[in-house]
Amino acid sequence: KAKRKESIFLTMNFAKDYFMRMMQTSDEGKSLGLGYFKNRGYNGDTINKFELGYSLDSWDSLEKEATNKGYTLESLGQAGLQSENEKGKKYDRFRGRVMFPIHDLSGRVIAFGARTLKKDGKPKYLNSPETEIYHKSDALYGIYQSKDALRVKDRCYLVEGYTDVISLNQSGIENVVASSGTALTEGQIKQIKRFTNNVTALFDGDAAGLKAAIRGVDMLLEQGLNVRVVRLPDGEDPDSFCSSLGGDKFAEYLKREETDFILFAARLYNEEAKNDPIKKGEKIREVLMSIVKIPDTIQQEIFLKECAQVFEISVEGLAKNLQEIKQKEL
Ligand code: CTP
Ligand code: MN
Ligand code: MN
Ligand code: MN
Ligand code: MN
Repeated sequence: KAKRKESIFLTMNFAKDYFMRMMQTSDEGKSLGLGYFKNRGYNGDTINKFELGYSLDSWDSLEKEATNKGYTLESLGQAGLQSENEKGKKYDRFRGRVMFPIHDLSGRVIAFGARTLKKDGKPKYLNSPETEIYHKSDALYGIYQSKDALRVKDRCYLVEGYTDVISLNQSGIENVVASSGTALTEGQIKQIKRFTNNVTALFDGDAAGLKAAIRGVDMLLEQGLNVRVVRLPDGEDPDSFCSSLGGDKFAEYLKREETDFILFAARLYNEEAKNDPIKKGEKIREVLMSIVKIPDTIQQEIFLKECAQVFEISVEGLAKNLQEIKQKEL
């Protein structure tokens, strides 16, 4: 079994090198793959740092190259690099897409995210399936490239996507990882905690994105992390906003807008509830549900005081409610 894992790692590394080489040397790769990344403003250092590549628009170019070099069809399958049709015919899974390798903490490639170049191509990102070396719920995009900066800066910026991580890196913000579009799992948070206890989540400004992101924060609080947030303007993601502002202005924006998560949620909910007492009650309870997740009781008390001010109610009342919630949870 250990031997099989080793052969999957070798096969993934071969595929990564092949995708990089095809992008740098083939006519198709240069014009479509490299052209795409250049259009997004990525320079050569960035492309090399993230080992970006391109998969040719062909059913078997990877398979041919791999078998020529002595890799078995079996290992290609175990690495998740092939798909299969109803008749059992195998073919290259990734075709005509730009390739984002996903690395583990030690820099080995464990999976690929592959973006379509077509305007409304579906799916936008085609990802590797689960394999013996890739468990989606444990992988954290950017952790290998960011780990030194996470420790030095003692802070982790949390974004949604591959391109967010890459744009921020090119702008000099290297302490950043992506959840790859889903809420963080315990396994992913444990990896962050090896390097820092401070997480700053960058939220999409629109209402839907905000709600989803707020729900995703509870796990971070539970794990005892200090959670801050930065809200981006409506319709912007970290990549688009960083590219339009430029790195220096973007870094200033982050510093200026960074808010403690509990206060941020309290203010937002208080806004939403306006003068409706029933709604306000519901919203207060929602914030308390987040506060109750914080393991440190001193911090809980500090947040209670701040929330009491925001919602303009007594600390005693809030504290009593928090106790009730705690009792129910037991
Ligand atoms: N994602 C995915 N599969 C999809 C769509 C999204 O895995 N079909 C993940 C990817 O990790 C992606 C992240 O969710 O990077 C965020 O999705 P989205 O905001 O749609 O993509 P962007 O990263 O912004 O990519 P782009 O700027 O190229 O549109
Ligand atoms: Mn698994
Ligand atoms: Mn989004
Ligand atoms: Mn996005
Ligand atoms: Mn984007």
